[in-house]
Amino acid sequence: MRYRGYPIEQLAEKCSFLEVAYLVLFGELPTEPELKEWTDKITYHTMLHESTKKSLEGFRHDAHPMGMFISTVAALSTIYPDARNVLDPEVRKLQIYRLIGKVPTIAAYCYRHSLGFPYVYPDNDLSYTENFMNMLWRMVGPMYQANSALARALDILFILHADHEQNCSANMMRSAGSSQADPFVATAAAALSGPLHGGASKEVLKMLDEIGSKDRIPAYIEQIKAGHGKLMGFGHRIYKNYDPRARIIKWAADQVFQVTGRNPKLDIALELERIALEDEYFIKRKLYPNVDFYSGIIYQAMGFDPAMFTVLFAIPRTVGWLAQWQEMIMDPEQKIARPRQIYIGHNVRDFVSIEKR
Ligand code: CMC
Repeated sequence: MRYRGYPIEQLAEKCSFLEVAYLVLFGELPTEPELKEWTDKITYHTMLHESTKKSLEGFRHDAHPMGMFISTVAALSTIYPDARNVLDPEVRKLQIYRLIGKVPTIAAYCYRHSLGFPYVYPDNDLSYTENFMNMLWRMVGPMYQANSALARALDILFILHADHEQNCSANMMRSAGSSQADPFVATAAAALSGPLHGGASKEVLKMLDEIGSKDRIPAYIEQIKAGHGKLMGFGHRIYKNYDPRARIIKWAADQVFQVTGRNPKLDIALELERIALEDEYFIKRKLYPNVDFYSGIIYQAMGFDPAMFTVLFAIPRTVGWLAQWQEMIMDPEQKIARPRQIYIGHNVRDFVSIEKR
């Protein structure tokens, strides 16, 4: 897996998320002044308009964070009507700053709304992930200070989730954006909440809870093989081998657990992986752990509620969606999306009045 030619392993080891975001969006790694300017632009746009904060108040306390997140991203369209001018490159750039700057703030506000906590404004002296953690977890006092190892692990997870070719949500972004809708509504359309896509990490934890202990794994696998459900966090439309992101996430998990203590679910996950990878059913179908198999375990150890997992995926993936959107808009051959359909319904027939049907 590579972004613009650079192997994901090298980027995860050596770059910050914002550096990778620049690469994904503009094609090259930034020079030092470019990175400084880029970081300044993003941090300048982290604040939400106060009316956005008020509109969040309208959600029920138990609203799903992803529903709140998507709706709030769409609502930005009402705050920034200039964004509709998508054919202007400068306007597009401004919306890119806005979206990447604001998605962590929206995510943190959604989280705090569900807990009934007051919102924490962004702090531009902090890094992208430290600022996000601060907005999530800072209380009245003492001052919250993000653990640097955890912030780095989150940064790496963000790097791994930044983009991934024509997946379900990237395709939605292109499809919605092809109507020249503004990028806020197109990003909201891209969603990614379903359990087969961005929601899979949450489903993995549910599955590990359901299994409960290592000795119950073989029976669980037999049940899957008999056609009762899927092994969540396994399989991928493109990877018919070990998802390279899962390997890096496994490494990041060790760093996180040194700070938080080991998540007991990890042992079940490791054993589940070992047994599945030796099983004829999974070997034959080339089913390996994907990016979501271990990410939920890390997020949970860091203190995130599973309901937030998809939102955590959406923050970095906003970069990928915007890169896909920008590329699509600039493509001179691009037309409005309209998948070809093969109609297999009735041929022409005459209307039948209701009493004769
Ligand atoms: N567990 C058990 N069997 C599976 C699984 C699984 N996780 N995934 C695929 N299969 C089987 C499937 O039943 C089929 O068997 P058969 O040939 O006997 O009918 C065969 O493998 C091929 O499946 P497919 O549906 O053609 O595979 P796909 O490439 O269309 O699906 C997938 C990819 C990711 C939707 C699927 O593997 C899946 O549902 N996995 C579980 C959900 C998951 O982890 N999603 C996260 C994906 S990565 C991050 C993201 O995109 O958000």
